[in-house]
Amino acid sequence: MANLQVKYLGTEFENPTVLASGVLGVTAATWKSVVNSGAGGITTKSIWLNEHQGHPNPTIITTENWMMNAVGLPDAGLEKAKEEIALYSENKPAPLIASIVAGKKDEFAVIAEEVDKLDVDILEVNISCPNVEDELGLPFACVALDAKSVTEDVKKVAKNKPVIIKLSPNVTNVVEIANACAEGGADGFCLINTLGPGLAINLETRMPILANKVGGISGPAIKPLAVKIVSDVYQATKLPIIGTGGITTGADALEIMMAGATLVGIGTAVFYRGADVFRKVSKEMSDWCDKEGVKSVEELIGTAKV
Ligand SMILES: Cc1cc2nc3c(=O)[nH]c(=O)nc-3n(C[C@H](O)[C@H](O)[C@H](O)COP(=O)(O)O)c2cc1C
Repeated sequence: MANLQVKYLGTEFENPTVLASGVLGVTAATWKSVVNSGAGGITTKSIWLNEHQGHPNPTIITTENWMMNAVGLPDAGLEKAKEEIALYSENKPAPLIASIVAGKKDEFAVIAEEVDKLDVDILEVNISCPNVEDELGLPFACVALDAKSVTEDVKKVAKNKPVIIKLSPNVTNVVEIANACAEGGADGFCLINTLGPGLAINLETRMPILANKVGGISGPAIKPLAVKIVSDVYQATKLPIIGTGGITTGADALEIMMAGATLVGIGTAVFYRGADVFRKVSKEMSDWCDKEGVKSVEELIGTAKV
């Protein structure tokens, strides 16, 4: 049997699949059940400093090829997250990546300093959510100088944990943004957040289907974009990447690893293949490796001849 273990920024993962941020709940109990379903690691929902209201319903549309969401980053805030992280730490079953988010630039460091002290393995900085623009303006991931200064601020206070930055596909030149983050001290990246915002219209009412009108697009339709961005950023920075965006099968996971990802984020596929998608994807990866004589999945990282 092929070895699926991978090491990412000093942390060992049993297999490369990790739960993407924002999908399948915010509690320690849900994270543990996702690990039971085969995930190699967990990313928390993006944590705000204080409680943050999401958008009104309907917030999600699911089709055969894509999902569009405008959940609007609802969260109970840092104090509640601390409780859940402490509960997860009791018999911690797999590494935990803490995602943090803020509306104002200087808030990132305040949350990062607190989260850095908790039993989490990696800090993921979400500067790229596209469906809160009305509330927060253009995401920081869309302006190189903003992306760099958030990275610098977080790196200054995160003394104990590696810091990865979650970037947006909604830019003209993602490599420019990634290079700016690398200059700011980023240890790695999560690529990509949702695409858009997009719009879907109900023919009868001629109104947008989502209450927020627009939403971020995820799922199989965005996979080729995720693979391209992972490949470009890997070539440019050589920093380790969590490849996320439409990964649904073992073949998808292997593809994004060959493009340069070390870990593989899975979000929307939970809706298509069930909560045990992690186990299914791992099995498909391992079957392929066995058939091809690949001893360890780590050998495949960045091997695509692009
Ligand atoms: C319902 C939903 C909620 C999400 N919430 C977050 C979030 O809180 N923070 C974040 O960084 N990304 C969030 N995302 C983006 C995902 O983590 C992921 O980057 C994106 O959906 C692409 O991966 P996928 O196609 O596997 O879902 C969310 C996505 C969905 C579908």
